[in-house]
Amino acid sequence: MYPKIRMRRLRNHHLVRGMVAEFELKPSNLILPLFVKEDLEEGTKSPISAMPGVFQHSILTLVQEAKEARDLGIPAIILFGIPSRKDAVGSEAYNPEGIIPRAIRAIKDELGDSLLVACDVCLCEYTDHGHCAPIDGQRILNDEALELYARASLEYVKAGADIIAPSDMMDGRVAHIRQVLDHAGHKDTIIMAYAVKYASAFYGPFREAAESGFAQGPKDRMTHQMDPANLSQAFREVELDLMEGADIIMVKPALPYLDIIKALGDRFDSPLAAYQVSGEYSMIKAAAEKDWVDGEKAMMESLLSIRRAGATMILTYFAKEAAQAMKR
Ligand code: PBG
Repeated sequence: MYPKIRMRRLRNHHLVRGMVAEFELKPSNLILPLFVKEDLEEGTKSPISAMPGVFQHSILTLVQEAKEARDLGIPAIILFGIPSRKDAVGSEAYNPEGIIPRAIRAIKDELGDSLLVACDVCLCEYTDHGHCAPIDGQRILNDEALELYARASLEYVKAGADIIAPSDMMDGRVAHIRQVLDHAGHKDTIIMAYAVKYASAFYGPFREAAESGFAQGPKDRMTHQMDPANLSQAFREVELDLMEGADIIMVKPALPYLDIIKALGDRFDSPLAAYQVSGEYSMIKAAAEKDWVDGEKAMMESLLSIRRAGATMILTYFAKEAAQAMKR
């Protein structure tokens, strides 16, 4: 039978493979999540056992880490704070002298405009019950939380944050944050909304990293995060967040939800980010430690697949390692 189709002609030579490659990963696609902890001795960092290679930082080591990311060509970091004091309403999240505003100021003092600082906005690291909003028994108080997210966002922006990333999944929070920021004159601050965030088991290791479990109230986040059995609500979530003023939308987790990333990219033209979460990272690390997979190849393959699905930005604990691998 002619013509003879031989797919191998496009694969035999590495230069041909490069020439026909449709997707590429660059350091500029990556955003590095970093944890900063209030009561760590300055200059020290504390390893997270469930996430080999990831640390809770003091401000000094955080700045060092941010600098290394910048030097590798990574454009942005996203900060998570672990306060020394938690209460029912997460007061430390919006304390102007809290750990996140202090960390932002330290990074900006050192790195200025050469690195974007994004801040996760949520209360779950700051509440003693471990939930993303105040609770009343088993009920998560959606509307009561909105003002608190807006206050936290404003403090972070005043300290120098470039991007606000609300991750709580309460209804109406993007509009509320946008309004408060605009009113205070911060009209150009970007909102990257965790628009499509599933109630996922893959956040497991993050609980250790952020020191947030469920001490009271519901034992999961099914009442506000998305049900993994649903796709159509993802469209509604994105429509709402865009209408409310989000600039970038995010899907989370990434690898188990590549279909969702693809579907959203086909339907919306706003910039799309995906979060390769703690469990995705730790699974690759754990398998690599046992020599069951080649860790670097599995890392690069998973990141490339997220790009291929349609995400331009990838939040990943691998950011530095991947950027280093790209240099080789
Ligand atoms: C805060 C938040 C979580 C993550 C990011 N922001 C935890 C959660 O929603 O339960 C998870 C990140 C990760 O697992 O890497 N709400």
